Amino acid sequence: MKKLILSLFIMCLALAASAEDGHQLWLRYQPNPEPAKVQLSLWYDGCGTVAPSPTIELAMKELQQYWHGAPITMEADCGPMHWKKGDDGFTIERKADGGLLLKAHGRDIGLLYGAYYLLRLQQSGQPVNPCEERPAFSLRLLNHWDNPNGTVERGFAGRSIFWNEKGEMRNEKWDAAHEELIRTYARANASIGINGTVLNNVNAKPAALSTESLQKTKEIADLLRPYGIRVYLSINFASPIKIGGLTTADPLNADVVRWWKDKVNEIYKMIPDFGGFLVKANSEGEPGPQDFGRTHADGANMLGKVLKPHKGIVMWRAFVYNPQSSDRANQAYEEFMPLDGQFADNVIIQIKNGPIDFQPREPYSPLFTAMQKTPMMVEFQITQEYLGAANHLVYLAPMWKEFFSFVKPASLKAMAGVANIGDDTNWCGHHFAQSNWYAFGRLAWNPSLTSEAIADEWLRQTFSLTPDPSPKGEGSIYSQLLSVMLDSREACVNYMMPLGIHHIFAGGHHYGPEPWYAPQGVRADWTPPYYHKADGIGLGFDRTLNGSANVKQYPEALCREYNDINTCPENLLAWFHHVPWDHKMKSGRTFWDELCHKYDEGVREARHFLTVWDAMQPYVDGQRFDEVQRKLRIQARDAEWWRDACLLYFQTFSHRPIPQDMEHPVHNLDEMMKFNIPIGMYENPTRGYTQ
Ligand code: GCU
Repeated sequence: MKKLILSLFIMCLALAASAEDGHQLWLRYQPNPEPAKVQLSLWYDGCGTVAPSPTIELAMKELQQYWHGAPITMEADCGPMHWKKGDDGFTIERKADGGLLLKAHGRDIGLLYGAYYLLRLQQSGQPVNPCEERPAFSLRLLNHWDNPNGTVERGFAGRSIFWNEKGEMRNEKWDAAHEELIRTYARANASIGINGTVLNNVNAKPAALSTESLQKTKEIADLLRPYGIRVYLSINFASPIKIGGLTTADPLNADVVRWWKDKVNEIYKMIPDFGGFLVKANSEGEPGPQDFGRTHADGANMLGKVLKPHKGIVMWRAFVYNPQSSDRANQAYEEFMPLDGQFADNVIIQIKNGPIDFQPREPYSPLFTAMQKTPMMVEFQITQEYLGAANHLVYLAPMWKEFFSFVKPASLKAMAGVANIGDDTNWCGHHFAQSNWYAFGRLAWNPSLTSEAIADEWLRQTFSLTPDPSPKGEGSIYSQLLSVMLDSREACVNYMMPLGIHHIFAGGHHYGPEPWYAPQGVRADWTPPYYHKADGIGLGFDRTLNGSANVKQYPEALCREYNDINTCPENLLAWFHHVPWDHKMKSGRTFWDELCHKYDEGVREARHFLTVWDAMQPYVDGQRFDEVQRKLRIQARDAEWWRDACLLYFQTFSHRPIPQDMEHPVHNLDEMMKFNIPIGMYENPTRGYTQ
């Protein structure tokens, strides 16, 4: 009996040891029993060796511990002529003796990036070939919308990993675990080339600049530095009033400028490599220079000037709109175009990929092709505020690649992504949401990588999927999962808002459908009818030259294409046109019938994802299998909810039947209209419309 209990106990231990909770992300390198052969060759202008930096020590350690291939020599010229100059890249060469030579282009981080590059190839089963790698963007940043009280705005993976003290006194034991978490975060970021992080919400509390909070920022900066990651802060433009005791925050006021100068000096004393500020100004109620009769350029340039001696930058957001305008999509352009060329050279205008707000599909923001004399960067949203939160499997690389098919990466200075990271064990709330963090970093390094290549390497590193009965080609279980990932964004567009429809989400949490949401007293541009404009004639926002003339903000050829209902891409039709219900689509169907079929297609795709996943059971560890299956079931049910709510609601305007050759709604509109998910903007819903 005793023996039986003992062996049961050992079995339990073994199971616990192999339990897979996703915390390891894509970093599943197998340790070496003996350190791998890694040599270091660092010199100083060819005359003498120098000691390795903490970053190089990290690169050494990672390779010694996890590299199983040919011996590696790491080389860098650390002389003042090279060190800290050059880009973040690296070169890999094959030596005559078969060994590998890994050379940094300039900065030490090139060696760490090179180390992770090699480990990635090893882990995803790809050959090592001579290469030269350099990032497309010099700034590759995560934006955390984390609040000082530990909540994360539009965060679906628990609480903040940075600001989770909950206002309590710090506690030593908790701090050690916290540091480990931050290091793991840094390692994951370095492994994909992310080199900056904004630690707090763009809706910034003035206290982010208090000395106490800066001390915490410094501690985080110290932990991130060896991984080549700089910290940045979002600031509240009214800080000189709120925490500085001044009566104004006018950017042209001498006392205000002095206050910012002193604050910036204080920051750089604590954090010499501090990156700079991210600013949301005169947007959604946040203060800004316009409150004092000044322009965005006045505000941004004042901050740019005080940061300049420290080599800091300002990322000034172009996410602005006010309720008076008849078309929200026009506004960023209207406010920023007149300022083109007026911004200081260390100010970058940070623009969301689309003109409205991270919808499942938007055209690109026309500011990107209009502004010619202003440094710009794109802001993507990695967290799925409008794409099913952490419940839906939606791989976002195809959406970001779509953006880059219109906006040349070379026209941008940097890439920012609103992070989907929280203190959930698996970091992102959904195991597959990790792929979006991963893809963001990979595209910030190299935007010409394909969505497929990124998904493939992520899958191979994240799931070992053994034994794969047909490891190569069509039938491979990797290729089935790959198709799910690659199709997932379009599926989401289909079941949520196909054919150019946008922003028909529930008020507040943006999770489910509420195309009817328009309570009295709520700003019109915060309600779906403002965007879909459904009526007896048709559906969609007329942004043509006869409407809001938004099309005019695009280059001439695109303007012409978008302006004509017969040439406008059908996936943006209701974005640019008020489309008559009977408008003839390319398929030969009417617009109404096409809409119905798109919704239905989305539902069928979501169900198919579940079917594919169910077949993965023999190959995936139990915990991750169950957790993903649970989420895919929610997604399939949510897709039905979206289809039924939208079609039944729009049908009250179209007065046309649901086509016979598709599945018909299974929910009742009046019941769906009464349904509410009682959550705010800081949490992931535990379920959709049905349990
Ligand atoms: C969206 C989002 C807000 C966020 C804002 C922004 O509107 O819902 O939570 O603050 O974007 O990007 O500033």
